[in-house]
Amino acid sequence: MPRSKYFGKDMICTRDWSVDALEEILALAGDMKRERYSSKFAKLLLNKTFIMFFYNPSVRTRLSFEAAATELGGHAQFLEPSSMRLKSSKSAGETIEDAAKVMSRYAVGIGIRILEDKVENYGEGDELLREYAKWSDIPILNMADDKFHPFQGLADVMGMRENIGSGLKGKTLLQYWGHGALARSWCSVQESLLINSRMGMNIVLAYPEGYSLDHDVIASVKANCQENGSSFEVSHDQVSCYKNADVVYSRNWMSPDAYVGGFDKQREIQKALPYTDWICDAEKMKLTNGAYFIHPMPVDRGHEVTDEIASGERSLIYDIAENRLHVQKAVMALTMSEDW
Ligand code: CP
Repeated sequence: MPRSKYFGKDMICTRDWSVDALEEILALAGDMKRERYSSKFAKLLLNKTFIMFFYNPSVRTRLSFEAAATELGGHAQFLEPSSMRLKSSKSAGETIEDAAKVMSRYAVGIGIRILEDKVENYGEGDELLREYAKWSDIPILNMADDKFHPFQGLADVMGMRENIGSGLKGKTLLQYWGHGALARSWCSVQESLLINSRMGMNIVLAYPEGYSLDHDVIASVKANCQENGSSFEVSHDQVSCYKNADVVYSRNWMSPDAYVGGFDKQREIQKALPYTDWICDAEKMKLTNGAYFIHPMPVDRGHEVTDEIASGERSLIYDIAENRLHVQKAVMALTMSEDW
């Protein structure tokens, strides 16, 4: 079988891929979910290695990528920066050019995770991935950087479609700032806004004053909504924003001031403390169209969302966590297998 037309392509943000290509990924992920251990898929990366390079901790991403490599017949190798001698602004060492070129001789793909607290300025994590992509001869997969989390976005779409059934076009997504003491990265929410606006969803983005996101990303989201004839609204009302939502995604995120004077997580945590009313709960969910609840996990229960909703019958969190595996397998097959 020939290689796919996506062979060698990086996945750093879903907006780098056409909607048609994303649909191909989702269709293959659906097949891989239905026929999980079929011989059709079991040897696509036989004897091949996928490198997982983590600057930050992870449960779902590490386990699902490792399982994905195993289920495709290959192997995933774990690497941390502390085990390397990389050049940085503060120390001498190996360049990204050399690291990427050498990794390309051992493996068929490289996944990288680098979140907000491992960079000095917003966007440097995403730039690091794009620097690896420039020098690497094999695909770079974003396992969550400080701007984007493409596999989370794909898994969200897959999980919503499996449950909503009639498609996402015209449905309303409430992207809601849930309070909490984690001062989380923008990557999951920004990826959600980008991909779901391209899928034709109406977007309601709700957060307290002072918690806006990347203006470039929001401009893209608005343009996507305009192109699809869907609506885009920003709300600072923590209750009325729930009206008519079909899906509620409650997630904490840090403010745009997080890097002012140097990244300071504790300052961000303190700043979010007064907003305890910003929680997804049963009362607010009554205002929706019987909305589903989604979240990338780990969930900050009791802050971002109540237990009742997170564990309720409309919660899709475990379906979506599982779908991480299937969408990752699909992208690995399309971009790394010689036999697909
Ligand atoms: N959703 C997600 O990326 O989870 P982990 O941080 O556990 O990988």
